[in-house]
Amino acid sequence: MKIIVFLIIATCFMVIACNQSDNNQQLQTKIDSLQARLNDTYKPGLGEFMMGIQEHHAKLWFAGINKNWQLADFEVHEIGETLDDVKKYCTDRPEIKSLGIIDPAVNTIKAAISKQDMDKFKAGFTELTNDCNACHKDNQHGFNIITIPTSPPVTNQDFRPVR
Ligand code: HEC
Repeated sequence: MKIIVFLIIATCFMVIACNQSDNNQQLQTKIDSLQARLNDTYKPGLGEFMMGIQEHHAKLWFAGINKNWQLADFEVHEIGETLDDVKKYCTDRPEIKSLGIIDPAVNTIKAAISKQDMDKFKAGFTELTNDCNACHKDNQHGFNIITIPTSPPVTNQDFRPVR
C-alpha cells in the first residue's frame, strides 16, 4: 500500500516537473524573439545626433546675436538634451567619453544668456565652436570643421525677439 501511495506521489511530481520545463522553454523562446526584435529597432547613430546638434548650434548663434534670449536659452538646452541622448543611445561609441569637453562653454553661454550679455555670449559661442572641433580632432574627425555660421540655417524662422 505504502509503495502504491509513494508511486502515485512520485508520478505527480514528475508530471509537474515536466510541465514546468515546458513552460520555461516557452518563456525562453518568447524572450529570444523579443530580444531579436529589440536588436532590430531603429536608433539614430552618432552622426545623426550630430546633425541635430549642428542645427541647434547655428540657431543658437542667430537667436543670440538677434538678442532673442528666450530662443537662445531654448536652443542651448536642446543641445544639452541631444548630448544626453547621445550618452544614452551611443554607448557603443568610445568617442563619447570626450563629450564633457564642451560643458564649460555650454555653461558660459547659459550664464551669458541669463545676464543678456552679448560679449560673453559671443565669447562662449566661439569657445563652444572650438570645442566641437577639438573633439572632432581628438577622434579622427578633424576633417569635419565647424564654424560660426554666416547665414541663418533656415529661411522659415524669424530669429528676432517677439515685439
Ligand atoms: C565626443 C566628441 C564630440 C563633440 C564634443 C562634438 N562632436 Fe560632432 N562628431 C563627433 C564624432 C565622433 C563624429 C562622427 C560621427 C559619425 O561617425 O557619424 C561627429 C560628427 C559631426 C558632424 C557630421 C555629421 C554629418 O554627417 O555632417 C557634425 C555636423 C558635427 N559633428 C557637429 C558638431 C558640433 C556643431 C559640435 C559642437 C556643438 C560637435 N559636433 C561636438 C564627435 C564630437
